[in-house]
Amino acid sequence: MSKSVDLFVHPSNTLTLLELLEMNGMTVQYNCRSGFCGVCRLVVNDLSKVDGDCEKRGMDNSVLSCCAVPNDSLEVFMSGDLSGNLLYKR
Ligand code: FES
Repeated sequence: MSKSVDLFVHPSNTLTLLELLEMNGMTVQYNCRSGFCGVCRLVVNDLSKVDGDCEKRGMDNSVLSCCAVPNDSLEVFMSGDLSGNLLYKR
């Protein structure tokens, strides 16, 4: 089972994906919040809508949510490979 959320983002956004999700009442697993542990990795529908360090992007459209900075609205979801990253409404 996969869960997804549509995140509405202003083009001038400077907040990370993790910060935006938290501001919208979502809980995402995290640890270091600085791009080292990988715990916060989430899949998005379009990598072109996310700025940030390309080395932190996965081949499966995944990004480290603590480093990725969305520049447009996007869908964020989890797959079977990322089952540890539960995303849910509080
Ligand atoms: S929380 Fe550790 S890489 Fe994002």
